[in-house]
Order: sequence, then C-alpha cells, then structure tokens
Amino acid sequence: MKIAVFNGSPRKANTAAMVQAFCEGAQAAGHEVETYHVGKMKIEGCHGCEYCHTKGEGKCVLKDDLEKILPAYKEADMIVFASPIYYFTMTAQIEAAIQRVYCIGKPLKAQKAALLLSSASPGVFDASVAQFKAYCGFTKIEEAGIITAYGDENQSDEKLNEIREFAKAL
Ligand SMILES: Cc1cc2nc3c(=O)[nH]c(=O)nc-3n(C[C@H](O)[C@H](O)[C@H](O)COP(=O)(O)O)c2cc1C
Repeated sequence: MKIAVFNGSPRKANTAAMVQAFCEGAQAAGHEVETYHVGKMKIEGCHGCEYCHTKGEGKCVLKDDLEKILPAYKEADMIVFASPIYYFTMTAQIEAAIQRVYCIGKPLKAQKAALLLSSASPGVFDASVAQFKAYCGFTKIEEAGIITAYGDENQSDEKLNEIREFAKAL
C-alpha cells in the first residue's frame, strides 16, 4: 500500500517517535510510506469562500503548503493522522489541513485510516477519537486502528513496539 502520514506536531519529539515506529513497521511489511510534517508547514484555515466548489473546480483559492500534501492525500491507499493533543484536540496545524482538504472532498483512493495521538495526561483523547471516527464514517474509509500514548508511555519501547507491530500487520 501507499501510505501517507500527516504529523501535526510542530516539533520533532513524542509524535515523531510514534510516526517513526509506524514507518518502520509499515516499511518492514513492504508498504511505501511518506511522512508530511504538517505541524511545521504553513497551512491557513479554510476561508469558507466555496471557490473550490464553484469556479475553482476543486482547487483552493489559498496558495500555501496545502499544495505540498494534497497529491499524497489524493493518491494514498491509507491515511494516517498523527498529532499531540493540544487542549483536548489535535493541533491547529493539522486541523487546518484536514479542514482545507474540503476542496477535494473525500480522498480518492484511501481504503484505510489510522490515528496516532500523544499527550501528557490520560483521558484527553475523546474529542480527537470522535472526530477520527466521524471522518472515517463520512469518507467510508475503514478504521485500521487508533493508538494513543500519554505521559511515560511516550517514546517507551513498549508503546513504540505496539505501533511497529500494528503497522507490520496492515
Ligand atoms: C499548547 C499545548 C497544549 C497542550 N494541551 C494538552 C492537553 O490538553 N492535554 C494533555 O494531556 N497534554 C497537552 N499538552 C501536552 C502534549 O500533548 C504532549 O506533551 C505531547 O506528548 C507532545 O507531543 P510532541 O512531542 O509530538 O509535540 C499540550 C501541549 C501544548 C504545547
């Protein structure tokens, strides 16, 4: 499978470690994985102008780093969202990207999706999990899995192995 991973963290730390473990497992199983560090990109929030659905024929009127991720989003067989929890949701950067793909509607090829979340505390994942499940329902993409890590689980061998094994089994 062609897998596109979108990492919403603005830094290279806990979420990046989860993404790295995912990539190792998926590549070991023969999948082609590309990671996009959305948290470090400049992607503005959607203006809601509907240009994409009127004159734009699927193109967004805003010209920014969304263009770097759209081809992968369109072409991937599997999509992975990875993010730290910021105030009970994923980061503003990845939320902006998710909302901006409104311009193309549903991904064209993806059959599966997964969610990787990192936080400091337990019990903070509900909103992002609900969003992910709603996204999968809307796009008719199979939920392949949700893996969360909080506190000391972050970057622990046990958690990173869990992610590697999950990705190997895809
Ligand atoms: C702005 C901000 C908001 C955060 N909000 C939460 C939160 O609501 N709940 C929580 O458990 N951790 C919260 N955290 C902690 C991060 O989720 C946690 O440190 C995570 O592992 C960071 O991932 P990263 O290393 O990939 O950036 C927050 C951190 C920041 C910087």
